[in-house]
Amino acid sequence: MNKLMDLISEEVTKVFVQEGYDPKYGKVTVSNRPDLCEFQCNGAMAAAKEYKCAPFMISDKIAEGLKDNEMFSSVESVKPGFLNIIVSPEFLAGFVSDMAKDERFGCEKVENPKTIIVDYGGPNVAKPLHVGHLRSAVIGESVKRMNRYMGHNVIGDVHLGDWGLQMGLIITELRERKPELVYFDENYEGEYPTEAPFTISELEDIYPTASKKSKEDEAFRQEALKATNELQGGRRGYRAVLEHIMNVSVADLKRNYENLNVEFDLWKGESDAQPYVPAMVQKMKEEGFAYLSDGALVVDVSEESDTKEIPPCIILKSDGASLYSTTDLATLVMREEENHPDQVIYLADARQSMHFTQVFRCAKKTGIVPEDMELLHIGFGTMNGKDGKPFKTRDGGVMRLETLISDINQKMLEKILENQKEKENLEMSQEECENTAKMIALAALKYGDLSNQASKDYVFDLERFISFEGNTGPYILYTIVRMKSILAKYEATGKSLADAKAAVLASESDSQKELMLSLAKFNGVMEGAVAEQAPHKICAYIYELANAFNGFYHGTKILSEEDDRQQKSYIALLLLTKGILETCIDVLGFSAPEKM
Ligand code: ARG
Repeated sequence: MNKLMDLISEEVTKVFVQEGYDPKYGKVTVSNRPDLCEFQCNGAMAAAKEYKCAPFMISDKIAEGLKDNEMFSSVESVKPGFLNIIVSPEFLAGFVSDMAKDERFGCEKVENPKTIIVDYGGPNVAKPLHVGHLRSAVIGESVKRMNRYMGHNVIGDVHLGDWGLQMGLIITELRERKPELVYFDENYEGEYPTEAPFTISELEDIYPTASKKSKEDEAFRQEALKATNELQGGRRGYRAVLEHIMNVSVADLKRNYENLNVEFDLWKGESDAQPYVPAMVQKMKEEGFAYLSDGALVVDVSEESDTKEIPPCIILKSDGASLYSTTDLATLVMREEENHPDQVIYLADARQSMHFTQVFRCAKKTGIVPEDMELLHIGFGTMNGKDGKPFKTRDGGVMRLETLISDINQKMLEKILENQKEKENLEMSQEECENTAKMIALAALKYGDLSNQASKDYVFDLERFISFEGNTGPYILYTIVRMKSILAKYEATGKSLADAKAAVLASESDSQKELMLSLAKFNGVMEGAVAEQAPHKICAYIYELANAFNGFYHGTKILSEEDDRQQKSYIALLLLTKGILETCIDVLGFSAPEKM
């Protein structure tokens, strides 16, 4: 379906052309004076300069030419030369009816779907998820879903941090604790046990202990480096330990991500890219891109137009070891070979922007990916506490994601139980209350994050996020639940929702028209949000739509409406609003309960 704004622009442009003006002046935008009109066109102001006349002489002619157009109930020329436009309720009703009949509410899939890899989550194996991992998972999941909704072929990859010193540290610490394990016996040739020599909680204790030791004890650090080297060189016993670490840790990560309603298609990690490193390095050397600088192998990536210095991308350290950039480059080689993506989108802290600039430039320059592959880093800001500093636990430590989530769940449950007491008719079992609390808590957490522009820092304000009023996830859910309840009551009178898909009638009140105008924006908003990979635009839209719906609801008697056609039209609007809100929150990665 066309966008409402485009249809309006088209009509206005036609008249500009009829009157002998350039079509570019016919562009219409949403009014910035909603008290005066719904849409506006400022083209006459600009055209006046080209055609050397007073702007109102042009806008007068355009308004005159649109006078009898059925799309508008009024087009006014106002000095010095603005066009104030109000669409006709009949035309709008026709547009909204068409949306209501379409299962995608007028938002068409793209004609040429792209293959897109979204690299997000980025947890490090054997380390518990902490709040620093929240944004990558939450924003990445939404970016994945948005693009999928538009019809792209999207692959989500968790890109585990499973390579490097942390693995050597764990192996070294494990050997100190349990030297008798067969994994450490170099002469052992048999099969290794299938059961892991540690549990997840042991593993989560092993890593920080080892990490601390390595900073205080140089001998331990050297051991860990050696173990890392041997692991990367393929030592059998260490490989077997690595596999155990992966299994135990990934199972735990999956459980955590499930609680966040985050789901990956690929569980690949940095280690999967290592086999691609030697050939990649060879190619970069042979083709003259890589050269030695202070012993390290580097590729220059600076460009003439740079306004700040972009240092060379380091491919191998002087001891021949891989780095973060090596792994990301080799991962691109692997992705090109396995998936031929048209685009790769990375969700990582904004502070990593230099790293991605170097990697992207190096990949293009050395030709390891095709020239037209789009590489995009969505860098996100920090989640801060109310003091404006990075969010911490009460005693100043890094908060585990699990703790954060269970805290919010708990708070939400208390709120639900309180509400239950107030409204005696809303009976839910303890289990229902718990599940409902979880759903609302997730919406609070995700919406609190996603409603901010990704690149900006934001303040994690639990009290505000869980409020049922204001620009919050729970408010959106509350609005959906309200609609569900009206629809259930409507059905309980013996009427069918399917019949109510009938035509939407022209609006009779301002609040109804406002709702319809808001609904009509859906396809434009979704397309725009996806083009900019910006979930916060969807949040802003559903907040506006929920407000418009609640305004309409408070001013309209829906269930007691006696005119059957009118009532059906109201129900059709309700179904459409609910459909759009549910689609949007699904794209954001959360869903609404039945009651709350
Ligand atoms: N594991 C990394 C970290 O914790 C994030 C990985 C981001 N993705 C990437 N392909 N570099 O910082």
